[in-house]
Amino acid sequence: MLIAGNWKLHKGPEETAAFCRALRDQLEWVDGVDVAVCPPFVSLSAAVQALAGTNVAVAAQNVHWAAEGAFTGEISAPMLFELGVYGAIVGHSERRQYFGESDEGVARRAHAALEAGLWVIACVGESAEERESGETELVLKLQTQAIADAVGPHDQLTIAYEPVWAIGTGNTATPDQAQAAHAFIRSLLDVPILYGGSVNPENASDLLDQPDIDGALVGGASLDVASFSAICRAAAPSS
Ligand code: PGA
Repeated sequence: MLIAGNWKLHKGPEETAAFCRALRDQLEWVDGVDVAVCPPFVSLSAAVQALAGTNVAVAAQNVHWAAEGAFTGEISAPMLFELGVYGAIVGHSERRQYFGESDEGVARRAHAALEAGLWVIACVGESAEERESGETELVLKLQTQAIADAVGPHDQLTIAYEPVWAIGTGNTATPDQAQAAHAFIRSLLDVPILYGGSVNPENASDLLDQPDIDGALVGGASLDVASFSAICRAAAPSS
């Protein structure tokens, strides 16, 4: 079970260090759950330092496909690896929606990160319109297949199913909706699959109890140490 916190555009280095120190204390007794935080690029180093010697991993929110070159504004996988970062998210719907990232580009980013030795959380998910018009499986298939074609069932690859309509809306997928989507994705690519979209301490257990849900990618509720720790505890085998 993996619980990853996607901070998006929140927390500079100072706030990151304070959060990570508090998280260390909160999670000391949580066993059997892998935990990761995904701060903005400029705060990765502070997180790596504050979490050194703990089981909490640090991951980036994106990574470029080239190791180096003329790609202004991008960060490469070897650079992240050098920093002590364990992995990267790729293909988050906000990257696809606001920054024009394509299925092909996402697949290339995943491939480069895995090649560099990073873990990858690759996001897929349908919009509200796509769900309403019965295209959920088609969209999930196209997005997942692009990743599968590029890297296959790599042992450092995790998929995150994040229905776009559930992200930041408080409108979580029901456990049944999430389970159905996860089972479908698993039929295409058999790797661990996280659910993301308005996960909070109240709904986490019901979602994580589903057989094909292997963890959560948490946005808003990961910004607060108490709520993020509560979700991590809900994922613990004994809970
Ligand atoms: P949310 O975001 O938990 O705030 O809905 C999840 C995500 O975008 O990864």
